[in-house]
Amino acid sequence: MYEIAFQERPDYRLGFGNTFMQHFDGGGQAKKLASSIYAYATHIDKLDELAAAVDHIAHRHVNARILPEQYPLIGEKLLQAMKEVLGAAATDEIIDAWREAYSALASVFIEAEAKLYRENDQKHLDRLASGDG
Ligand code: HEM
Repeated sequence: MYEIAFQERPDYRLGFGNTFMQHFDGGGQAKKLASSIYAYATHIDKLDELAAAVDHIAHRHVNARILPEQYPLIGEKLLQAMKEVLGAAATDEIIDAWREAYSALASVFIEAEAKLYRENDQKHLDRLASGDG
């Protein structure tokens, strides 16, 4: 998905530049994204079990400077890829259900990441105020 998204937004590739995932095919990045969404969908009624995973991924995203406005394109490409893989089995109902799951999970990440960005900013401000910065 990330790779398909980059065709439209080559600038989104930047976040991946310094990571082990710059080798997309070998890195299994699309698989990781898809399996996180699957894990989320199957844990929808016990999200606390996924809290550690969400926290881990949110930290990765914040290190890569991912922003909320990047989520819709990745979601769109995920659904497109699912349609390609599933073919006729990808009914409107199934695709709509996954769209909803993606959008709910995206909100979870966006919120977790906003909190981390705020905490990082605060730490930075505290350092400046204390003269260590
Ligand atoms: C609900 C949507 C998303 C899910 C479930 C998701 C999931 C993941 C997962 C599982 C990882 C790997 C973490 C690891 O290996 O430790 C990851 C890494 C990453 N994701 Fe996402 N992601 C989402 C949205 C996005 C978006 C919108 C972008 C923007 C282009 C993005 C960019 C990245 C980058 C750059 C990394 C690599 C960070 C690193 O290597 O340190 N992700 N994501």
